[in-house]
Amino acid sequence: MNRSKFGLIICALALPFLAQAQQNDRKMNQFLDDLMSKMTLQEKIGQLNLVTAGEAVTGSVVSTGVEQKIAEGKIGGIFSLSTPEKTRRAQEIAMKQSRLKIPIIFGMDVIHGYRTAFPIPLGLAASWDLDLIQQTARIAAKEATADGIHWAFSPMVDISRDARWGRISEGSGEDPYLGSLIAAAMVRGLQSDDLRAKDAMLACVKHFALYGAAESGRDYNTTDMSLHRMYNEYFPPYKAAVDAGVGSVMVSFNDINGVPASANKWLLTDVLRQDWGFKGLVVSDYTGVNELVEHGLGDLQEVSKLSLNAGMDMDMVGEGFLTTLEKSVQEGKVKQERIDAACRAVLEAKYRLGLFDDPYKNTDSKRAKTDIYTPAHLQKAREAATKSFVLLKNENQLLPLKKQGKVAVIGPLANTGSNMPGTWSVSADHANTPSLVEGMRAALGNKVEIITHLGSNLLEDAAYQERATMFGRTIPRDERDEEAILAEAIAATSDVDVIVAALGEASEMSGESSSRVDIGIPAIQQRLLKKLLATGKPVVLVLFAGRPMTIVGESESVPAILNVWFGGSETGKAVADVLFGDVNPSGKLPASFPKHVGQLPLYYAHKNTGRPLAKGQWFEKFRSNYIDVDNEPLYPFGFGLSYTQFDYGQPQLSATSMTADGKIEVQIDVTNSGNWDGEEVVQLYIRDLVGSVTRPVKELKKFEKVLIKKGETKKISFTLQEEDLKFFNQELHWVAEPGEFEVFVGTNSRDTQVAKFTLNQ
Ligand code: BGC
Repeated sequence: MNRSKFGLIICALALPFLAQAQQNDRKMNQFLDDLMSKMTLQEKIGQLNLVTAGEAVTGSVVSTGVEQKIAEGKIGGIFSLSTPEKTRRAQEIAMKQSRLKIPIIFGMDVIHGYRTAFPIPLGLAASWDLDLIQQTARIAAKEATADGIHWAFSPMVDISRDARWGRISEGSGEDPYLGSLIAAAMVRGLQSDDLRAKDAMLACVKHFALYGAAESGRDYNTTDMSLHRMYNEYFPPYKAAVDAGVGSVMVSFNDINGVPASANKWLLTDVLRQDWGFKGLVVSDYTGVNELVEHGLGDLQEVSKLSLNAGMDMDMVGEGFLTTLEKSVQEGKVKQERIDAACRAVLEAKYRLGLFDDPYKNTDSKRAKTDIYTPAHLQKAREAATKSFVLLKNENQLLPLKKQGKVAVIGPLANTGSNMPGTWSVSADHANTPSLVEGMRAALGNKVEIITHLGSNLLEDAAYQERATMFGRTIPRDERDEEAILAEAIAATSDVDVIVAALGEASEMSGESSSRVDIGIPAIQQRLLKKLLATGKPVVLVLFAGRPMTIVGESESVPAILNVWFGGSETGKAVADVLFGDVNPSGKLPASFPKHVGQLPLYYAHKNTGRPLAKGQWFEKFRSNYIDVDNEPLYPFGFGLSYTQFDYGQPQLSATSMTADGKIEVQIDVTNSGNWDGEEVVQLYIRDLVGSVTRPVKELKKFEKVLIKKGETKKISFTLQEEDLKFFNQELHWVAEPGEFEVFVGTNSRDTQVAKFTLNQ
């Protein structure tokens, strides 16, 4: 069949759906026109007010007088309020006491699961498994909607290449391509096909934009970036979420090239609404509008005006909109149409969720009892955790361990359940999450005897430990002398077969406002690790990390390292599954692990510079390098070992050149030559050798996660088309430029086989 015929058939099939969508929109518009014609200016401004009930602490200001404001029509949405009973009670006030009975929308930070916690987003990204990620979002939405919530402040898609930034834990890492696919999968999972469904949530892509590029990795800090870099490297995941139909966008806190995002008309209107065609709701971050005062843009009335006029629809917590916009309208500083448009965006979101038909949607307390924290959800959490773990080292195949004998699990992360869900898990049941040891014992039964000791405090400095264990994510402190704690642990290892060292960060050492300048394992834990190694027993490091960490010393001295991030509700069982070989690890790093914090920002898709190092060199005078540490990461993007061995053949190209409407098939044989069945993420990168602007030395363009049985060879095929070769040029046009390209296929971004082709005119 030729293309045009095929197109016609597709159009004919889509017509009924389009007609239905248009009819629905007409119905909605009539309803909202009618409603808005009855609203006073104050009531419209009231819809722009999003307040917090403060059940989950996610900021320092908590809203007051909430019930009275609902009755007065001064609140459009509430977040951090859960349970069907509580949201019903708040909704009843809106429906019975407010003049126009406009339902409230209830939001929450549903980031990586709800009560059932999945691995932190950086860990989920390490699975490179889009179906799995979508399923975790679906489960999160099922649970959150059963608990009264309509709106998830997720996905967080900020690209970050600076591991000092604590919130790197909350996104998908350094790569725009992987990040974009994950952004879309999350939106599909949260929203499903039908926002009116009882288990669908309005998603909210955040933080728009460039929040992950904060200078010096310090949270909330300034971003100053070329447009070229923004469009090619940082914008794609937000755009992917918009293309996937995300219903709302949260604006970031940071300054962007001199204009904070919350007041940035170019960003919120020109790019988001005009260029990208976004039609949903734009919401500020927590007191983001008020913070424009501190940014130095004026007083509260001035900054509220600036923000609304820039394109902000809803004001989170700060109430600058609520308290100043009426005056600004009267003074002619804000147009009535802009208030109307913002109000309409809020009402449309509510309408699309079906709240005008059923304001009490999601307040069925029966569902809360049956749909939350179910065995099936926990099973998925266990599977997701095993897939998120990254095996960084496995000397002499120390892993997997045999299910027998006696194992010592030592370290400050061994016996804390509350840390296992990881940062930004505000709805998880921290108090009842099993610790690593409890989970391992539950998974292994009486086959393996597990003993455990603290070994060392998390941090030497008690005040630092307090900052690192906030919000009830406790790790008990032993006030005895360091030597005494250590000696006790070492003595206990005398008759064990293996030592598992549970070390690294506590969950609140990453996340919001948890940036670090030293991203290594804390010194006190390193001293413990040295003593454990000195026993001569085999030592496995189970590394808890909310970010890429600097672990050069450990990578040299410890025979096996499993990076487990924070694995969620079932971390302990999942660690047992992998350490004892029930699951063969398959995670791959979504962000480079640096050798030294001084290398940051560090990322594989860097530019070549005019003075690159020759291959194999680590230092040469008058070249782009350091005199004390080489340029390479310790573990590159895409890296992760398996218990088995994958051997790559040479990539075969179907042709050595292609035209703009053509394509090239890239095929490669991957052989599992080890002794285990295993999953491998086969990665394809390209390099555009000559361009009108400089191009990265490698860019991820395709990948496939495949199960390859032991002894089996699989032929993996990728199709490259002109679209895959496009980028934003100096004029910000999306173009592919004819010329030579390299194509790399391999097991990570460093270890690849290369071939070449040409894109013809
Ligand atoms: C965070 C957002 C979050 C909001 C509401 C802010 O501090 O930056 O990611 O959605 O709080 O909890």
